[in-house]
Amino acid sequence: MPSAEVEARFRALFASRPVVLAPMEDVTDAVFRKLCRDHGAELCVTEFVNVEGLLRGCRIASRKIDLAPDDRPTAIQIYGSDRDRLAEAAAVAEASAPAYIDINCGCWVPKIASRGAGAGWLRDPSAMVEMAAMVVRSVSLPVTVKTRIGWGPESDMPIVELARRLEDVGVRALTIHCRTAKMGHEGAADWTWAAKARARVNIPVLVNGDVKSGEDAVRAIETTGCEGVMVGRRAIEHPWVFAECRAMLDRGERLAPPSALDRIALCRTHLLANVEARDEQHGVQCTRRHFSGYLKGIAGAAALRQGLNTTNTLAGCLAILDEAQARVERGLSATDRPVLSREQLLSARSPDPVGL
Ligand SMILES: Cc1cc2nc3c(=O)[nH]c(=O)nc-3n(C[C@H](O)[C@H](O)[C@H](O)COP(=O)(O)O)c2cc1C
Repeated sequence: MPSAEVEARFRALFASRPVVLAPMEDVTDAVFRKLCRDHGAELCVTEFVNVEGLLRGCRIASRKIDLAPDDRPTAIQIYGSDRDRLAEAAAVAEASAPAYIDINCGCWVPKIASRGAGAGWLRDPSAMVEMAAMVVRSVSLPVTVKTRIGWGPESDMPIVELARRLEDVGVRALTIHCRTAKMGHEGAADWTWAAKARARVNIPVLVNGDVKSGEDAVRAIETTGCEGVMVGRRAIEHPWVFAECRAMLDRGERLAPPSALDRIALCRTHLLANVEARDEQHGVQCTRRHFSGYLKGIAGAAALRQGLNTTNTLAGCLAILDEAQARVERGLSATDRPVLSREQLLSARSPDPVGL
């Protein structure tokens, strides 16, 4: 049983219609969690952590559950196909004092789901409920489940009855990704399933899938009665979405979009933090998936992106961003060529890093 203090903190997490950063493998690491928190995410969930890695003490798994004092509230998500191993791994994760332990019952990727982990649990809802009961008993922190509405179109969607059964065995909150496992990330999320499930339980439910704006957040919460929303892919390209959702939920206010300078500054901040947390090459590489979204709408973004995506050094990327910033500040688009004299052109030693 959670202590009264843990209990109170857990309840508080869901009391303010939270906008939660989704667990995303290779994305929702400590650096990205901080960045999203700085942009208004109130609660974060780690990327999923494999129970076998955790139980073996594998370095990568251990790093994923290592939560710094300023990385809170963050929940740790675990995944696996064996209920005993999940229960044991939950106890290991508990030692990092996360806000709660979340069990992944939603990953559709064949190499995970076909082995019975992730959304594989949806093929046998009774086994999922028994597994969740076991995990609940193995830790004193609250345990939650993130799942989908069902396995595939050929089956009835089990989510409504499943939500009630999970609540009965002590699961303290649910996140419902409103697609089937078979849909993967394709097709529209159907929030009506979250509404139906929420109507059957007394625990908080987060609605997930296709929440991309403040307007979406309001609509998702109002039409489902859920306690909050979870945002995944939109955050990768636009972490400002958290502040936008918050402003719309709290004040009905639509925030002005980030300026070109904000966008360039975010590229720089994320790049520097990733390089500091890793080695230079890996830090530069793993920031690339974000550049295209961060730079959206800036004049000359395509050339900028191309430059950043083909430059392997931190110094090179920073030079490109400095140059882009200088151009914006001078009122030029990122692709406007500087007007250089023939002499200047001939004496130019270093090539323009953006290749303009
Ligand atoms: C790159 C990527 C990695 C993901 N990794 C995880 C994961 O580790 N655990 C999990 O529960 N869901 C994972 N998901 C699913 C998201 O958490 C979320 O449920 C899904 O993207 C739908 O939300 P969205 O429409 O806001 O993106 C991942 C999604 C993406 C795009």
